[in-house]
Amino acid sequence: MKSTPMPSSRIHNTVLRSKVMSGADAAALIAPGSTVGMSGFTAAGYPKVVPVALAERIEAAHEAGDPFAIKVWTGASTGPELDGALAKAKGIEFRMPYNSDPTAREQINSGEMEYFDIHLSEVAPMAWQGFFGPLHTALIEVTAINEDGTLVPSTSVGNNQTWLDLADQVIVEVNSWQSEKLEGMHDIYFNPALPPHRVPIPLTRADQRIGQPNFHCDPSKIVAVVETDRPDRNQQFKPPDETCRTIAGHILDFLGHEVKQGRLPPSLLPLQSGVGNIANAVLGGLIDWPHENMTAYTEVLQDGLLDLLDSGKLDIVSTTALTLGPDKMNRFVEDIDRYRDRIILRPQEISNHPEIIRRLGSIAMNGLIEADIYGNVNSTHIMGSRIQNGIGGSGDFARNSYISIFMSPSVARDGAISTIVPQVSHVDHINQDVQILVTEQGLADMRGLSPKQRARLVIEKCAHPDYRPMLEDYFERAQHGAYGSQSPSLVGEALSWHQRFIETGTMQVG
Ligand code: COA
Repeated sequence: MKSTPMPSSRIHNTVLRSKVMSGADAAALIAPGSTVGMSGFTAAGYPKVVPVALAERIEAAHEAGDPFAIKVWTGASTGPELDGALAKAKGIEFRMPYNSDPTAREQINSGEMEYFDIHLSEVAPMAWQGFFGPLHTALIEVTAINEDGTLVPSTSVGNNQTWLDLADQVIVEVNSWQSEKLEGMHDIYFNPALPPHRVPIPLTRADQRIGQPNFHCDPSKIVAVVETDRPDRNQQFKPPDETCRTIAGHILDFLGHEVKQGRLPPSLLPLQSGVGNIANAVLGGLIDWPHENMTAYTEVLQDGLLDLLDSGKLDIVSTTALTLGPDKMNRFVEDIDRYRDRIILRPQEISNHPEIIRRLGSIAMNGLIEADIYGNVNSTHIMGSRIQNGIGGSGDFARNSYISIFMSPSVARDGAISTIVPQVSHVDHINQDVQILVTEQGLADMRGLSPKQRARLVIEKCAHPDYRPMLEDYFERAQHGAYGSQSPSLVGEALSWHQRFIETGTMQVG
């Protein structure tokens, strides 16, 4: 006989209390081959029970010789109980957007899993436009269900309201590990109007609230409520090493210079920072910034930003996810009343919206895999074809920010690879979207420079000394290339595709 779990005190709506069931029973409601829109943005706020139960069901189906998989849409990366469990079961046939799970990455790169990488701001609008096809199930983690049926978001907002709105059926995971005091920290602005009916988004400051605190969902669409108390699984950040601290130092010097020139106010402009240890170190480094009243308008709140809030230098963080390592998460929960008015969690199409980023004038700081001497940046692919994670929000911010900074150590793989290259093997950010390039060697301010001027500066300021002579040699030879010297490059000549054109001076077809 199946046992029905007892509903906890987090479910205040009587109709939805009657829909409480086990993860396995809820997973049974997901049809093979269907599309599931899940919560989760970094390892925060993702469903932790139903994906594991679904993975077990898929494994059993494999063993029984009747395998199936599903299509997964999320906010961004998630945690091991979602991407990890489903990928290990070979249960994902299609995935979008950002992924950082190692098993899913292997399957994407081996061709087993189709992966659609997209600017994070565009996921919800393109879903509303119907470009991705139907959404069968929304699977969303919440902190609680209110008496009126509204759903209290947890540690990330992602595309949740969009999935709730578009899906044919909804499964809700109520996670009692999440602090009940999160209620009221979210600002769910939801306006899926399509052109020509779109209106301006009325957000003019990072600390402004323009929406509702909770998600809305037609209760008749909710087919299952599952309870859990499993924690988010964000990684502990590494303490910043010498390289990270040096990069942070260059950026702070640059920002100080911009303030002196009158191009930035002393409290700077809303900060955005990408994922990872370097971004975390840069934000940590801003604790030494000599002015107060800074703000952040970003998509991930990492440890460094929490420290900055605690320091009193930062007034407000607008974000989409609480990407805090376990220690900082504990501190956040213990002191949540202190943070309640200083942290706002928003949907990702609002956090990353080009209109708002341009209006606020963000200072964008993102990581890279490689940059070329002309300032084009590859954020996603190793050796041009193997995906690492995805573009995430870096493109949303880079193109629309007031100042667009990309940062990285000058070498990877213990010095075996220069991250500054003659020509990137894959382009995510064209040089027009990349203003400042920083490595531990130095900072290149490429604003207003021609390609040749940029190349000289990037080699001088950013390249590792071991690789500088090779880059200089390339640049020298490229300037004598046959086809113009605006953007000196040997790539055209190296590609056999163009060989006939190069040999004859004319493109012959057929
Ligand atoms: N050639 C080959 N491999 C390289 C490389 C290069 N030029 N540069 C880095 N790598 C490898 C590293 O060795 C590492 O490999 P491993 O996983 O086997 O150890 C991997 O790529 C990641 O490098 P790492 O130094 O750990 O990266 P990071 O934490 O600084 O992140 C990005 C860099 C680009 C992967 C990351 O910033 C990213 O995913 N960016 C895109 C999304 C984004 O910017 N979002 C911003 C808004 S949140």
